[in-house]
Amino acid sequence: MALPIPGPWPLPILGNIWNVDAENSVRDLSNLADVYGPIYKLRIGGEDRIIVTSQELVNEVCSRKEFAKYPVGFVMQLREVAPEGLFAAYPDQGSWGIAHRTLMPTFGSTSIKNMFPEMMDTSSQLLLKWARFGPDHPINVVDDFTRLTLDTVTLCAMDTRLNSFYTDEVRPEVKAMVGLLYETQQRTYRPWWITALMRGRNRKFDDDNNLIHEFAAKVIANRRANPSNRKDLVDAMLNGRDPKTGKQLTDDMIIDNMITFLIAGHETTAGLLSFMMALLLTHREAYSKLQAEIDSVVGTNAITVEHLKDLKYLKACLWETLRIHPPSGLFPVTYLDENPNARTTLGKQWEVKSGQTIIIVVPKLHRDPEIWGDDVEEFKPERMMEENFKKIPKNAFKPFGNGSRACIGRSFALQEATLAIALLFQNLDFKLADPDYKITIKQNLANKPHNYFIYAKPRPHVN
Ligand code: HEM
Repeated sequence: MALPIPGPWPLPILGNIWNVDAENSVRDLSNLADVYGPIYKLRIGGEDRIIVTSQELVNEVCSRKEFAKYPVGFVMQLREVAPEGLFAAYPDQGSWGIAHRTLMPTFGSTSIKNMFPEMMDTSSQLLLKWARFGPDHPINVVDDFTRLTLDTVTLCAMDTRLNSFYTDEVRPEVKAMVGLLYETQQRTYRPWWITALMRGRNRKFDDDNNLIHEFAAKVIANRRANPSNRKDLVDAMLNGRDPKTGKQLTDDMIIDNMITFLIAGHETTAGLLSFMMALLLTHREAYSKLQAEIDSVVGTNAITVEHLKDLKYLKACLWETLRIHPPSGLFPVTYLDENPNARTTLGKQWEVKSGQTIIIVVPKLHRDPEIWGDDVEEFKPERMMEENFKKIPKNAFKPFGNGSRACIGRSFALQEATLAIALLFQNLDFKLADPDYKITIKQNLANKPHNYFIYAKPRPHVN
């Protein structure tokens, strides 16, 4: 017989609105798992949501075909911004398949190598900025990594230079995107009828949305007026064809995907870089090991794309950072069955109804003691070295989501982050401005550390 799923009692109409703070949902959902266990239920926005946190249950929902991504919550709200984009598309939406099949080759690790010059360009700007500050200037790490990842994704996906390192003024397109993301997140947890009454905020949301769409449309018009031989993402979107249907992306699909890449591709990678820097500066042994590896693989030579694959400890540090502090803290799967009355069970005992959504809490999954042992809270890159990485049980490590809806930008993000860290550690020595610093998390679209400051000093071989 199916057992009822535990969970805090929902209030009439408001549901469990008081149990989850929209700005700290990952933290709150993790904490609720400590009280209710690896599966529990909440009523959010008028819908029942099942939350799972253990590898056993995550493995089940990520392996069974009847559980798949369906836009709900934040992703559903994002459909107001980019309904034709990969991230927020319905599973059976034709435009998802066309864009996915057309763009997958460009996002593959081999093609991503073509974007190395653009990534080197933006990373070098960051290096120069930090080197020129001098050893006594406090550096706001999170802000600068956010500049880096925004400039990189805009250069690679929109052929546009934001030049964020050269100005303190935030460009209107960036302001619009930040505004859209903030409001989208707020709407996720706010009852729809309250949102409907917030006329001023809704007007601002529409203005921001128009501005960002106009920006993307201008990029397309500009590239068409000035054709280029560059084999970048803009070229793939404008000229690529779906190998299955032979169709090309429409302008609406291109615009929505450009916006999607900006949204999905900058905060996440900035979160990864900012957490990694914080973890390395609070674990000096790992810091020294990493710098020794970079010195032995690259030395004082200019970094090339071929060096990156040999930086194995750096890769392990990236994986371990993604384990402890995954920038994308939650992802949903929904039980999809054509029969609206269908029922199934999870863990052979908990009943799930057709259409019900299950939310995976990634940081909690990455701390499942059954998988990772008693030292789950410790930063130990060694556990992610290739030989150990291969032994991680299925679906125990999910920083990039699941199945065909997993992150298309994974190789992009990993190449960008590997290059940035290698370049910075090759040339600079770092220390924390506050020696007693402890990482605290700020949730936005992605998790990042709260602002923290470091000092950077050119290494002796750099003059
Ligand atoms: C999807 C994480 C970087 C583009 C996802 C998903 C996760 C994720 C968890 C699945 C979301 C879901 O199931 O709802 C990350 C992390 C990144 C990163 C941790 C960096 C460390 C990027 C970059 C890009 C990108 C750099 C683009 C340049 C996308 C897109 C999707 C996606 C388009 C939707 C794919 C689809 O549904 O077909 N990402 N991402 N991401 N990501 Fe990333």
